[in-house]
Amino acid sequence: MRIPQEKFDEIAQANDIVDVIASYTQVKKRGKSFLALCPFHPDKNPSLNISQQKQVYHCFSCGASGNVFTFIQEYEKIPFMEAAEKLAMRAGIELNLRKSAPDTSNEISRLFEINKATARFYYNNLMNLSGYEKDFVWDYIKTRDLKIDTLKKFGIGYALKEWDSLLSYFSDEKTFSLDDVEKSGLILKSDKKANYYDRFRGRLIFPIFSENDKVVGFGARKLYEDDPGGKYINSPETRIYSKSRILYGLNFSKEYIRSSDFVILVEGYLDVMTLVQAGINNVVASSGTALTTEQVQLISRYTKNVVVIYDADLAGIKAAKRSIELILEAGLDLKVVTLPEGEDPDSIVRTKGKAEFEKHLNTRKSFIEFLYTFYETEKNINTVEDKTEFVEEIMDYISKMTNKIMISFYIKDISKRFNIYESILIDYLKKARSKYIKEKYPKSSVVLPVRKSEEKKALSEKPSSLELELLEVFIHGDGAALDFLSENIDVRFIKNKAVLDTVQIFLEEYHTEGKIVAYKAIDKSEDINVQALIAELSIPKHEISKSSKLDKNSILVKAEKRSTNYLRIANDIINKFQVNLLEEDVRKLIAEGKDLNKILELRREIDKIKRSNGR
Ligand code: GTP
Ligand code: MN
Repeated sequence: MRIPQEKFDEIAQANDIVDVIASYTQVKKRGKSFLALCPFHPDKNPSLNISQQKQVYHCFSCGASGNVFTFIQEYEKIPFMEAAEKLAMRAGIELNLRKSAPDTSNEISRLFEINKATARFYYNNLMNLSGYEKDFVWDYIKTRDLKIDTLKKFGIGYALKEWDSLLSYFSDEKTFSLDDVEKSGLILKSDKKANYYDRFRGRLIFPIFSENDKVVGFGARKLYEDDPGGKYINSPETRIYSKSRILYGLNFSKEYIRSSDFVILVEGYLDVMTLVQAGINNVVASSGTALTTEQVQLISRYTKNVVVIYDADLAGIKAAKRSIELILEAGLDLKVVTLPEGEDPDSIVRTKGKAEFEKHLNTRKSFIEFLYTFYETEKNINTVEDKTEFVEEIMDYISKMTNKIMISFYIKDISKRFNIYESILIDYLKKARSKYIKEKYPKSSVVLPVRKSEEKKALSEKPSSLELELLEVFIHGDGAALDFLSENIDVRFIKNKAVLDTVQIFLEEYHTEGKIVAYKAIDKSEDINVQALIAELSIPKHEISKSSKLDKNSILVKAEKRSTNYLRIANDIINKFQVNLLEEDVRKLIAEGKDLNKILELRREIDKIKRSNGR
C-alpha cells in the first residue's frame, strides 16, 4: 500500500523531536537548542544536540544524526515503516498500513483484527453521532474534560444504544465469522433464542492495548441512568486478553516510565487518561483487578520505583496492602500516596489542576509510614499489644522483601521509631522469612515434574554453558533471583541429567530452608557427577574464570566485574532457555514440513524474547 508523502509530513509535524527524544532520554534546554545524553553510545556528558527549529538531532561525540523517524528507527532497531507507524500511533494519526488485507490465517490474528476493526468502528461512531445521543455523549465527554487529542490517542469510542449495531457491522462486513466475533467477547448469544447481540450498548468505549499497541479488549463505561449494568463492563478474557497480564496505559507510558525511572500506579482508566492529558505520562492502571504478580513483573522491566495511589477509604487501604506485598516481593521500591476521601487522580487534576496533584505526589511515603498513618488514625497504636501487633505486621511485609539493603534501612527505621533493638527485629525477620517461604512453596509443589515420556529421553552428556550459568545463579544468587528462578524454570529447559538433579535439589532446599547452601546440597545427592558439579560451581567466583568448565565469557564472570544483578541474569538465562526451547520446536516443525504459520508465530515469539533481552 502506497502512503502519500503528506501523511509522513503530518506525522513529523505532530511529533516534536524534543518531546520524542525526551521520552527516551533526559533532555535539557541549553540556549536555543536542547542537549541530551546520547542513547547511541555510552555518554557521560550530554552530547546529543537537538534543534527544535530544524527538527533534527546530532551527536558531537558519536556522529549519530537524523530526524524524528531515524531516531525511532535507530533506538528501537526497527525499519522505517514501523517507526512511522509508531509515531503515527503516538500522535493519534491513522496510518492503516495493513487495512487492505487483514490477516485471517489463524484464530489469534483474527481476534486481533476483530478488536482492531471494532475499535475503529466505535471511534467512528463517536465521531459521527447525531441527534439526541450526540448531545448527550459529547456533554458527558465535556464534563470529563477529555480533549479531542486525548480521545484520538486513547482511541475512545462509543457503542450505540442498540442491541445489534456491532453485530450488523460484522454481519455486513463478512470478513470474520460471527463465531470468531463471539470468541472475542464482543457479541453474545442469548439463552432463549440462538441470536447474537452486542455486549456493549450505550457506553463510552476504552480500547485496552497490549504493551505493543494492539487492541486486546475493551472497557466500557456506563453513561445512562437506565443502564442496569455496573459502572464498567469489560471484555471477557479471550485467547489474546489475559487481565492479569495487562496494565492499562503501559503501551503509551513505557518509555516515559523508563526515562523518569518511576511509575505511578493508579486504579482507573480515566485516571490514566486525565494524567496523560495533563502531561504526566509515566502512569499505568491495574483497571479493576487487584494488582497481580505478572503486572508487577511487567513494571519491573521498566523501573524499580513504584508510586501507588489509592483512595483513603478502607477498600482502598485493603487493595493497597495486597499491592504492597506483591511489589515488595518483586524487590521493587514502593511509595504510597493516599488521596483525600472520595478523590482520585482524575478528579483532583480536573477540579484542582495538575499542580495540586503533583503536590500530593510529592507527599509520597514509604509503605511503613503509610501503614503507620493508617494504624494511628484507624486503630491507634497506644498499648504494648497494639504496638507489638503493628511492628509484627510490618515485619511480615519486610520478610517478603529480597533486597537486603532495603531491608536493612527499614529495620533501622523501625528500630528507631519504636525503640527496639535491631537484633530483635532481625531475629523476628528470620523466622518470618522462613515461614513465608514455606507457605509460598509448599513442599509437594516444588519437585519438577519429569514426565514419563521424557524420562527415557536421551539426556545430553555434557552440561551446556547455559545450564552451568543457571546453577551458578542458584548457588550465588540472591533471594530475588532465586524466587524468580523457582517460579519460571521449566523441566524441559534442562537436557543434562546431573544438572536436572541438581536443580531439583536446589529447589527443594530453597523452598524448605529459604536459601541454598552448597555443601548441604552435595550431601543430598549420591550421584558423583552432581556432587562434582555443585562443588566446582561453588568455588569463589574470581576463580571461576580459571575453572575448566566456565570460560571468561560466562555471564556470571562478566557480571562480577560490574555490580552483580542476579535477578537480571536469572531473567536473561530463563529467556535464553525459552528461546532454545522455541527454536527446538521450530526445527521440529520445519523437519515435519508443516504449518508455516505456526513457525512464523514461533519465530516472532523468539524475536520478541530476544529483543526484550537486549534491553
Ligand atoms: P470514573 O468513576 O468514571 O471516574 O471511573 P474510574 O476509572 O475512576 O472508576 P473507579 O475509580 O470507580 O474504578 C477504578 C477501576 O475499577 C475502573 O477504571 C474499572 O477498571 C474498575 N471498575 C470500576 N467499577 C467497575 C464495575 O462496575 N465493574 C468492573 N468490572 N470494573 C469496574
Ligand atoms: Mn474516577
